[in-house]
Amino acid sequence: MSFQYINQKICICLATLILLSGCSSTHQQEEYSLKLNRQRVQISQNSQIDYLSYIVGSDEDKENVHYKPIDSSKLGTYQVEYINTNSQGQQTRKTLTIDIVKMYKNHIYSPQNIQPTIIENPEDITALVNKTHQIPDGWKPGDLVNVVDSHQQLRKEAAQAYKDFYLAAQERGIKCYAISGYRTNETQSLYWNRQVQIRGEEYASQYSAYPGRSEHQLGLAIDVSNQLTGDRLSEKVADSAIGKFIISDGYKYGFILRYPKDKVSITNYGYEPWHMRYVGKKLAKELHDNELTLEEYMEKEQ
Ligand code: DAL
Ligand code: ZN
Repeated sequence: MSFQYINQKICICLATLILLSGCSSTHQQEEYSLKLNRQRVQISQNSQIDYLSYIVGSDEDKENVHYKPIDSSKLGTYQVEYINTNSQGQQTRKTLTIDIVKMYKNHIYSPQNIQPTIIENPEDITALVNKTHQIPDGWKPGDLVNVVDSHQQLRKEAAQAYKDFYLAAQERGIKCYAISGYRTNETQSLYWNRQVQIRGEEYASQYSAYPGRSEHQLGLAIDVSNQLTGDRLSEKVADSAIGKFIISDGYKYGFILRYPKDKVSITNYGYEPWHMRYVGKKLAKELHDNELTLEEYMEKEQ
């Protein structure tokens, strides 16, 4: 056997080994990697939880995923840890937050008994505040100013944008009345408790935010109307000139209609054609052009 022949054989063997090891690493890459399709979900009290529906993967992938079920009879916020063990015995863990809630019609749920996430960016004009996201205790905007033609207040940047919006409406002969801008935690608490007392928790959950979880406390939301007296904040605002102007032009000034009619199950608030939220021109245009709520946008960005 010549030296050249042996050398050739060694080369072939090495190439086969490299190829084989390449195959096995490709095989490792194909190993199932645990992924959830949601970070947080709300489940009606006493209903069954379809734990597997929150896992991304085939039925076969899900076979090796384990979790500890929770008691859905007790209202509150719980963490469910999903654990996947792969063929090498390595574990991956992912956590799903489950709120067991009192659920009303249109998937609207009561904010009571929920343990909210405390937001870290209340200064940010794009901050998400809703039934599950709360402003830190004692936080207050530092740059509140009166808005044009009203004693209502907003943060400086939002007040300037509101002035531009108000003047543009005026130029078209449309009157815009500021009804409610910045609210303190005490005011919001008063509003929430009054709604619960007078109209019950179901109604309050539709139209009033739980104290600490209102965008009005950020100094970035303002309720406007076509009239200064009477039934100022009703669905009639939607048919008025200012209601239409919010939808057609609000985004040009950095405002979005925060609680649209067709997104009730996403925002978890009833239709509020009067509630404008300032998010800045860039994001407002993106949300307007793509017909997204702040919730949908934030979920997409994660
Ligand atoms: N009406 C809205 C949800 C609020 O109270 O902030
Ligand atoms: Zn409002």
